Amino acid sequence: MARKPIIAGNWKMNNTIAETKALVTDLIPLVKDSACDVVICTPYTDLATAVELTKGTNIKVGAENVHWAEKGAFTGEISAKMLVELGVEYVIIGHSERRQYFGETDATVNQRAKAALAAGLKPIICVGETLEEREGNKVKEVLDRQVAGAFEGIDKEELTNIVIAYEPVWAIGTGKTATPEIADETIAIIRKKMEELYCPKCAEEKVRIQYGGSMNPKNVKELMAMPQIDGGLIGGASLKAVDFSQVVNY
Ligand code: PGA
Repeated sequence: MARKPIIAGNWKMNNTIAETKALVTDLIPLVKDSACDVVICTPYTDLATAVELTKGTNIKVGAENVHWAEKGAFTGEISAKMLVELGVEYVIIGHSERRQYFGETDATVNQRAKAALAAGLKPIICVGETLEEREGNKVKEVLDRQVAGAFEGIDKEELTNIVIAYEPVWAIGTGKTATPEIADETIAIIRKKMEELYCPKCAEEKVRIQYGGSMNPKNVKELMAMPQIDGGLIGGASLKAVDFSQVVNY
């Protein structure tokens, strides 16, 4: 069974509602014949607009984070149920910017992933090493820890509902892409860990692993040609309809 490619845009803190209308309207016809799963992950304030505009199209909508509690005294947070009610299907969890600037840990990533799954959302779980960790030969150690932490207590029946995004921190927003070989061999480490945690068949058939970090229309083809890479999580290049569509239609 081949793993279906999945290309997701991560808009980060970009686009007002008016900008969302323009971008999504332009994007719809450009990606309508895609053979991949196409997802756009937007700020909370744009979600309702994005869901409304993409109804009946092949574009799915995701959020960029979710809280683990069902509800309660968590000022500023958004629950999985709130996202589901809006018609959101995916949610990015544990992005390196959240880990770096907002105190996200492997344990909170795990809690968020479980809450998302329980509500019927599909988590896109981000993992990746810093430059210091790569230069210190700690890539396997770091990824093994992040993956084991994120998947703690998650049932193997859920694996087809989860996407992993391998995003080397040194490649995000820097214009510095991992070479296809580095991305592929590092994703193989993640898949191996999933094999250890679950089973060889699970890792091979059920787990989709994206590459993220300066993926763009120019480098997408060679990255997607690698056997381990099942898609991309696209930041900068997802903010322009033509660029994102060229990535989707690689
Ligand atoms: P980038 O961002 O494509 O701008 O490097 C990727 C990401 O952070 O998901």
